[in-house]
Amino acid sequence: MESLATIRDVARLAGVSVATVSRVINQKDLVNPETAEQVLKAIEQLQYVPNAVARGLAGKKMGIIALILPDILNPFFPALARGVEDVAHKQGLTVILGNSDDLGIKESSYIKVLKKKYVDGFIFASNTIREEDVMALRREGIPIVLLDRGLTTTACPIIRSNNREGAKLAVRHLIDQGCRRIAHIYGPQEFITARERLLGYEDIVGESKDFSPSLIVPGHFDIESGRRGAEQLLARYPDIDGIFAGNDLMAVGALKALHERGIRVPEEVKVCGFDGIGLTEITEPELTTVAQPIYEMGGLATRVLLDEIESGISENTIIELDVTLVTRKSTRRGQN
Ligand code: RIB
Repeated sequence: MESLATIRDVARLAGVSVATVSRVINQKDLVNPETAEQVLKAIEQLQYVPNAVARGLAGKKMGIIALILPDILNPFFPALARGVEDVAHKQGLTVILGNSDDLGIKESSYIKVLKKKYVDGFIFASNTIREEDVMALRREGIPIVLLDRGLTTTACPIIRSNNREGAKLAVRHLIDQGCRRIAHIYGPQEFITARERLLGYEDIVGESKDFSPSLIVPGHFDIESGRRGAEQLLARYPDIDGIFAGNDLMAVGALKALHERGIRVPEEVKVCGFDGIGLTEITEPELTTVAQPIYEMGGLATRVLLDEIESGISENTIIELDVTLVTRKSTRRGQN
């Protein structure tokens, strides 16, 4: 009898997170042996079959999923897409990619058109997706998973990073490196990821005597707004000694502004970004950042979607993955 056990059933039986089960299946050597053993035993006991082709998906479905991203020019999203596509491909599925520009109307149009093409399910990185679109898909039994920017109120599974804790990691690191007047360039506040990073920054500096609300400036998650934001901050506070940018592209823009003013990084100002995109390894100086598990997030979202395609719509799980501080020269201490 073919097992209909899902990745969640395996996680529950093994007493681990869905993310850990996914890691054991995908990158077993990254998991501690005892945990991996526990998970493999649960897979065996439940006869969980991660391979969609063996699960007979190909016969029942089109074998196509849609991935709708807000800005494919931002390197964060292609990295996310890579994680989605690698897992989908291994499961014998094809991925259709769309770019929404964070417009709800475009997202609705993608859903309308692709539903007619009988895609088996949707993965959206979106803060603008319309609740009625999500509910309609779920009512029709068409799975949808939100990735990265999901609103916790949305009635579908969400895979995202722990943005608020990640922001606290960044600011604590700048303080540990000797910074006392730390500014923040925040992303568009309509994105929950940007809101949570601003909250994390305020959690740490909010009580400090050196803090002032004018130490935070808005950005648009791109290089130019990061450059402009750093310009504004330096004009207001020439004594800034640390900048935490809400994503890596804005941090790169801040590096540009500091360079244009002849301000040395990290000697005079230390800079930290957020995301962990490849660009941070080639900036001068190399950029310290809070790395999201981008590839893993994409792969996990696909695995959760596949389970819903195979076993039916489930409860709306929120899976929050940990982030990692990657320290490089842009915050190194004692570089005088
Ligand atoms: O760089 C793009 C940003 O938008 C990332 O931080 C990601 O989390 C998304 O919300």
